[in-house]
Amino acid sequence: MAKYHRIDDVEIGDDTIVRDYVNLYGCKIGRGCRIAAYTEIQRGVTIGDRCKVEAFAFIPSGVTIEDEVFIGPHVVFTNDRVPKAVGDWETVTTLVKKGASVGANATVICGVTIGRNALVGAGAVVTKDVPDNAVVVGCPARLIGTRDRTGKKIARRQKPKSRKGKK
Ligand SMILES: CC(C)(COP(=O)(O)OP(=O)(O)OC[C@H]1O[C@@H](n2cnc3c(N)ncnc32)[C@H](O)[C@@H]1OP(=O)(O)O)[C@@H](O)C(=O)NCCC(=O)NCCS
Repeated sequence: MAKYHRIDDVEIGDDTIVRDYVNLYGCKIGRGCRIAAYTEIQRGVTIGDRCKVEAFAFIPSGVTIEDEVFIGPHVVFTNDRVPKAVGDWETVTTLVKKGASVGANATVICGVTIGRNALVGAGAVVTKDVPDNAVVVGCPARLIGTRDRTGKKIARRQKPKSRKGKK
């Protein structure tokens, strides 16, 4: 184990690799996962089997991640819709279903479900549920297509027709 990290009260499955400089506490990580450096995973989080969590991901209490999910570098989940420094607050939950991928630098506003095998594009801000197999991008994240289990495109949402020239 590395020198600079905190791993307290964590259940870690067989064949899971945890890199240096992580902050993991009170969470459960499945089998065959890869947890990269500078990741924070907080109390009560569950991560399934064969997941990959890239560097600098922030996964706070209230998040549940099913099997075979990819969490890109610098992905931020949230757990409080109206944060403030002082006073009580309630954890709002978020679910990422099996096979989904969340691209680099995406932010997920709490209270949503990211569907099975869905793909959240790099830099997206997810504010609503993402359907199974959907590809979403942008801020706020919008549907641009769907993909199959291997990641291959199976449909592309038509762009709205240009209104140019119309009165
Ligand atoms: C979303 C993504 C999978 C591309 O999906 P796609 O269905 O192949 O989409 P296309 O590349 O055909 O692009 C479709 C449109 O969406 C736009 N788009 C693609 N990715 C985007 C993104 N992340 N944010 C905003 N717009 C995006 C394209 O510019 C294009 O716009 P246009 O139609 O106006 O030209 C890819 O761009 C992406 O973000 N992948 C995640 C990469 C990542 O984070 N990897 C982590 C490992 S390091």
